[in-house]
Amino acid sequence: MTYIEQPKNEWMYKVILFLAGFLCMNAAMAQSPALPRIERQHDNSHRLIVKGKPFLSLGGEVGNSTASDTAYMHAMWPRLKSMNLNTVLVPVYWELLEPQEGKFDFSLLDNMIAGARKNELRLVILWFGTWKNSMSCYVPAWVKKDEQRFPRAINGAGKHQEILSAFDPHILQADIKAFKALMQHIKKVDARQQTVLMVQVENEIGFLTDAREHSAKANQLFADPVPAELMTHLTQNKSSLMPEFAAVWEKNGAKTKGNWEEVFGAGLATDEMFQAWYYARFANEIAKAGKQVYRLPMLVNAALNYRNNKPGEYPSAGPLPHLMDIWKVAAPDIDMLSPDYYNPRFTHYSDLYVRGGNPFYIPEINFDSSTAIKAFAAFGKYKSMGFSPFAVESGSAANSAMLSNTYEMMKNLEPFLFNSQGSDGFLVDKTSKQTSPIGNYELTVAHDNTLGWNRESKDSVWAFGGGIIIVLAEDEFLIAGNGIVVTATSLQPGKTAGILQADQGKVVKGNWITTRRFNGDQTHQGRHIRLPLNQWTLQRVKLYSYTQ
Ligand code: DGJ
Repeated sequence: MTYIEQPKNEWMYKVILFLAGFLCMNAAMAQSPALPRIERQHDNSHRLIVKGKPFLSLGGEVGNSTASDTAYMHAMWPRLKSMNLNTVLVPVYWELLEPQEGKFDFSLLDNMIAGARKNELRLVILWFGTWKNSMSCYVPAWVKKDEQRFPRAINGAGKHQEILSAFDPHILQADIKAFKALMQHIKKVDARQQTVLMVQVENEIGFLTDAREHSAKANQLFADPVPAELMTHLTQNKSSLMPEFAAVWEKNGAKTKGNWEEVFGAGLATDEMFQAWYYARFANEIAKAGKQVYRLPMLVNAALNYRNNKPGEYPSAGPLPHLMDIWKVAAPDIDMLSPDYYNPRFTHYSDLYVRGGNPFYIPEINFDSSTAIKAFAAFGKYKSMGFSPFAVESGSAANSAMLSNTYEMMKNLEPFLFNSQGSDGFLVDKTSKQTSPIGNYELTVAHDNTLGWNRESKDSVWAFGGGIIIVLAEDEFLIAGNGIVVTATSLQPGKTAGILQADQGKVVKGNWITTRRFNGDQTHQGRHIRLPLNQWTLQRVKLYSYTQ
């Protein structure tokens, strides 16, 4: 028989126990570094922190069914890596995760984690659970076929939809069970390596055919008083509510109690708010349960209404700009409300989604010829934690090459960006110009074609120009991009801004290397900084002021 002899000296025994405990704790900490988290910055922007360091997610989302094809995925990872991505957004489908109730199959997920790791890529998991683009198409067959246990949403005409109801506890519990199993598995296989950074709860939640559900349960809750948390939020934050949301409330007299129609007035806007509250509650229950298992940052994404449709004609009640107040109060465990961009109003919607301290992250953007240029504005102006063209694996060769160029630049600029005195981003076309302050100067950014030097200048439509400025000092900045021309004005009275020096260069292992001095034709003999159209260039610029 073996036994451990107790030290005779009790004091020594305690020291040994303490040291053993300390070593174990250290070993545990070494195994599982702090989890990815979102950190608010002094300017109200946010950073994603991974293993203690800021992480700029240069992402892409795969097409909906791609992640169910292991052989295809196997070949895809190195391709995405070669496009300079560092993050891939991949779905986990409830129907394939839990094909039989209570029986889980993690093989697709395990393959994705292995493939991503092999190629030094990170993952954001998209939980295709109860809802995917409004519908319930990814729920398992045992859910789809059991209408008694898992009731469908009913529209205003009394018709059952292929959309599960947000008001039924059984569907919520079933989704929670599956989601917890997913988070448990990610924790088990990934807590140490942290290939999985974040999780999206459901996908583009939103009701269709009507602004809200009309089941007996939904109607009963609609007639009940507006939940106290929402009323308190309204009354305590009157001056900081999203204006389009406040307008509906104020138009009806800014009442402080009553049911939904009494407080907000009868109509589609109120129907949508009501539904949004319960969608957000549902999504929050999923996120909360998942975080109790494994606390990763979580987001929800929105299908934007950009055609001026009425609620119900577009997927209503999702995390849309005019419903941000409702989603924030009802879903405190969701970290980000995120826009999916499939419309031309990129800056309009980005301006809306950075409001109210919402951490900004772009999980989806249409992958076209403008996408790679928009990334500069996303990172520079909106301080997005990530950018992610949709169906990134099947973009055209030209669009993929452009994305790869932008991401390579952003990868190199990342250390400068995170240590800079600030940044701005630009997206310009034929009619737009942007200005940006840096120290004692104001920069004006216009499209390169405005010079009239390019063949394309005469075209009726111009491809976007764009770029990012990273401020190194009050008179010095890095500027990267494609198709812009920058002029500077001095803000000091009686002074004119001049270019002290402009260098073309590159970043090697985090260090700036000058390749060319640019003070002649390339700056039009000191008149402007130019990043020519269809080229990805990087310059380091110093300004000065001289007396007029
Ligand atoms: C947005 C959805 O979130 C994606 O899953 C996909 O359906 C795209 N739309 C298709 O355009």
